[in-house]
Amino acid sequence: MFFASDNAGPVHPEVLEAIARANDGYAMPYGADAASQRVQAKIREIFEAPDAMVHLVATGTAANSIALACLSQPYETVFCSAVAHILEDECSAPEFYSGGGKLTIVPCDVDKMNPHDLRSVIAKEGTRGVHGPQRGAVSITQVAEKGSVHSLDELQDLVDVAKEFDLPVHLDGARFGNALVALGCTPAQMSWKLGIDAVSFGGTKNGLMGVEAVIFFDPAKSWEFELRRKRGAHLFSKSRFLAAQMEAYLSDDLWLTSASKANANMARLANGLRAIEGAEFLCEPEANLVFAKLPRAAHKRLQTGGAVYYLMDELEGGDDNDLLLSRLVCDWSVSDAQIDQFIALATG
Ligand SMILES: Cc1ncc(COP(=O)(O)O)c(C=O)c1O
Repeated sequence: MFFASDNAGPVHPEVLEAIARANDGYAMPYGADAASQRVQAKIREIFEAPDAMVHLVATGTAANSIALACLSQPYETVFCSAVAHILEDECSAPEFYSGGGKLTIVPCDVDKMNPHDLRSVIAKEGTRGVHGPQRGAVSITQVAEKGSVHSLDELQDLVDVAKEFDLPVHLDGARFGNALVALGCTPAQMSWKLGIDAVSFGGTKNGLMGVEAVIFFDPAKSWEFELRRKRGAHLFSKSRFLAAQMEAYLSDDLWLTSASKANANMARLANGLRAIEGAEFLCEPEANLVFAKLPRAAHKRLQTGGAVYYLMDELEGGDDNDLLLSRLVCDWSVSDAQIDQFIALATG
C-alpha cells in the first residue's frame, strides 16, 4: 500500500522494454541520436506546434530551473504561487540556474493563484526603478501542488495578466498528462493556445524512469536552453536512453492511459475516504493527488497496517478524533486491491 508519491512507483514495463531495445549497438551521443529527433517530431505533432523545440532532462527541477533561466534575466523575478514546487521544493535551483534571479510569491487559495492577486503583485514589483528586481516570467503549476487542476479559463486568466505586462509564461507540467485527461482537452489547448511560452512536460511521475521534456513554442529560446543545460551539467551523453523512454511514453498514448489510470485510482481512493466521518480534503482531488485530513485513529490503523504515505502532523498524543493532515498520491500502477485495503484500514 504505497501512496507516498507518484515518484515511488515502478517504471512502466513498456518503457523498460524500450530502454532495452535502445541498448542495441551504437548511437550518436548528446541528443544527436535518431530517437531524440523522433521524440521532437512526435511532441510537435501531439502539441500541434511544428516549430516547437524539445529538450530532454532527467529531473523536473532541471526542467523548471533551466527553462525559467531562459525566460528571465538574473535581475528579474519569477512570479509563482506561495506553494509552488519551484519555491518550496527545488532547493533554490531556479535562483541558482538563473544566476541569482528571484522568486516573488503570489498568494493562493489552496494552490491556485488568482488573476487579481497576480496583477497586483506584478504591478507592485515594478515600482522601484533600478533598485528593485524587474518583472520576469510567470510560472503556473498544472496539476497544482495540492491536487487541484486549473480549468482552461483559469489558466487563460492568469496568462492574460502576464501578457498585460508582456511577461513570458512557464507551465510546470510535472503532471501534465494527469491534468490533460482531467480536463479532456488537447495539449495545444492547455499550452500555446493560451499563450504559454514554455512547458516542463513531466514523464517520471507517470511511468518513466527519469525523463522530462522542456518544450519551447518559440524556437528562439532553444539554443540558450542547450547551452544552459550543458553548463548546468544536465546534458546526458547517452541521451538515446532518455529519448527511448519518452518515445515509449508517447507511443500508443501510453502517457494518456497511464495518467487516466492514476486519476481513476485517486477517484476510487477519495470516494472511499469520504465515508470516514469528519474526513476533509484541502481541495477536491481532480487528478492523482490529495491532501486529506483524517482522524488520528484512522492514521494509527493505516500506519500499523503498513500503509506508506506522508503524514504532516504528529501521530502520537492528542485525541483519536483529531484530524491529521496527510498527502496521498496514486500512480498508474496502484491496484484496486491496494486502494481497497487502504480504505478498509482507514474506515476501520
Ligand atoms: C509540481 C512539481 N514540479 C516538479 C517536480 C519535479 O521534481 P523532481 O526534480 O524531483 O523531479 C515535482 C516532483 O515532486 C512536482 O511535484
